[in-house]
Amino acid sequence: RKGGFEHYMLKEIYEQPKVFFDTVKSTENDSRLPMLRIPAEVTVVACGTSYHAALIFRYLAEEYSHKRVSVEFASEFKYYTPPIRDMVIAVTQSGETADTLAAIERAKSRNCSTLAITNVLGSSITRIADWTLFMCAGPEISVAATKSFTAQLAVFMAILNEMCDGRFTDTLARAHCSVERVLSYELEDAVAIIKNASEMFYVGRGVFYPVALEGALKMKEISYIHAEGYAAGELKHGPFALLSEETPVVAICTPSPTYGVMLSNIKEMKARGAPVIGIGAEGDTEAQSIVDVFIPVPEDHQIVQALTVSVVLQLLAYHTAIALNRDIDKPRNLAKSVTVE
Ligand code: F6R
Repeated sequence: RKGGFEHYMLKEIYEQPKVFFDTVKSTENDSRLPMLRIPAEVTVVACGTSYHAALIFRYLAEEYSHKRVSVEFASEFKYYTPPIRDMVIAVTQSGETADTLAAIERAKSRNCSTLAITNVLGSSITRIADWTLFMCAGPEISVAATKSFTAQLAVFMAILNEMCDGRFTDTLARAHCSVERVLSYELEDAVAIIKNASEMFYVGRGVFYPVALEGALKMKEISYIHAEGYAAGELKHGPFALLSEETPVVAICTPSPTYGVMLSNIKEMKARGAPVIGIGAEGDTEAQSIVDVFIPVPEDHQIVQALTVSVVLQLLAYHTAIALNRDIDKPRNLAKSVTVE
């Protein structure tokens, strides 16, 4: 049943190039997509990993389409009153998360147009929202979300492409090739540093900040190491006090307008003793020379790299959890879908 893989999580990680490709195509071919007419101001509600996918959408949509996208925890949105937006999008793999269902009910009661992005045909959210777009992830068995996250990104990126008049069609069509190239990473050197730590940080800037949040969540969930995701520039506003030889930092330093400042941040963390694992573009000898372990990813558009780096971080969590002999597919205290508040 696990298709020759030791765990469902690894099987699902390996399915991601196909899931991304299929979901982009099916969303692009969905005749309802042009009719959706995403308004100038949108709110996205979600929980956990789905919330991180929404944050990635926010960064990309605000940068490339100039729409206003706010992202709220579904569990907060139900209980306070943010300024009303024209459309509320709920993103939920299961379509059954209680907080997300309550948030979308609330949006409806405030006369917003509502769109659900989900992986499960006929799930509760599809009966509440005005519109639904489906992810083509197939059933996800592992408690830790991997391929459903990638499928959410695929739907969001297809929406972005529609909002940008097809500007990213070619980029999205080749994105799965970059992901394919990192799947076999076993990351032994990085795992050797991380597996003995009890706390660690993930840092990135721009779209790589939510990528860092998601990387930290994956690590917490399946390895039980306390990992915090931070916007790289924020670390010096307090968390620097926690840095020592015992707090590894995973720093995403792929090419972007913030590359230079990321390298300065890495040097500051190193100066405080933290071992740094850098994730950067293949052939980047400058970044490689200042970090303890360098993980190369294929150089590409940041839309693609957000995806590729996310997959590398899933693998980092997976291989660390293996080294710690954790129950990968069924981490303690967690359920696949959270159907109570
Ligand atoms: C993390 C994870 C959870 C879910 C969250 C929302 O790996 O799986 O954080 O992302 O419980 O679930 P859905 O997307 O079903 O609403």
